[in-house]
Amino acid sequence: MTENILEVKNLVKRFDEKVVHRDISFFLKTGETIGLLGNSGTGKSVLLRSLIGLEQIEGGEILFHQQRIDHLSEQQLYPIRTKISYSFQNAALFDSISVYENIAYPLFEHSRLTEDEIKVKVRNILKTVNLEQAIDLMPSDLSGGMQKRVGLARSMVLSPEIMLYDEPTAGLDPVNIEMVLDIMNRFKKQGLSGILVTHDIPAAKKICDRILILKDGMIGFTGTVEEFENSKDPFVQSFLGQ
Ligand SMILES: Nc1ncnc2c1ncn2[C@@H]1O[C@H](COP(=O)(O)OP(=O)(O)OP(=O)(O)O)[C@@H](O)[C@H]1O
Ligand SMILES: [Mg+2]
Repeated sequence: MTENILEVKNLVKRFDEKVVHRDISFFLKTGETIGLLGNSGTGKSVLLRSLIGLEQIEGGEILFHQQRIDHLSEQQLYPIRTKISYSFQNAALFDSISVYENIAYPLFEHSRLTEDEIKVKVRNILKTVNLEQAIDLMPSDLSGGMQKRVGLARSMVLSPEIMLYDEPTAGLDPVNIEMVLDIMNRFKKQGLSGILVTHDIPAAKKICDRILILKDGMIGFTGTVEEFENSKDPFVQSFLGQ
């Protein structure tokens, strides 16, 4: 049986009186990718941020490899955030430094590799996103799609176990969407687990093993992609029609 690499139990998240998550429970198995859907404002991004302690939660448990990580200090969260990598809704590159420096940055921060070793690693990771030629460019020299791919490369550079993707295909043209999905599929084939937050249903169907839909602070639907597609529930169907 495959291990639950991540498990969320009865998570509660509020901002003052505003309840975002009332009771969220789900699991992620090693190697699988789940799609997290939900209308705008249902708390998909807040949930991803909560998983790595960028948001305080008011109740429940988050387990990574069966160990609770929801009560850790900032310092204890440091190594966790190298294992669970969050790729932001916008690529969030540093504008004033090159592509190379952007990707190398986490390695200088978190690894003991020499500069030469870092150079090799950055080149290799750029190869997987088909951007070797962009190594010395500045973020402002890149198209939106290229920036997304550099962002993905940076999220991958510390060899995480889980990738949290927040709308990786949003705002991209069809060619770049295909490139990003291809990269995600390659990561998946390497054994990476993932949570994909998206409004892009075709993308979710291509990448994900299971689908979760947030509704009223709870999980409104959970099932395989096939169950998702064949669901007779009007709420689920409203997503398929998008
Ligand atoms: N720091 C904050 N303080 C107060 N409310 C917040 C904060 N961050 C998020 N929220 C609220 O939490 C709710 C969920 O926000 P979130 O960004 O997670 O939605 P989402 O599902 O990702 O939406 P979208 O699909 O548009 O990206 C929203 O109502 C938002 O206004
Ligand atoms: Mg969001």
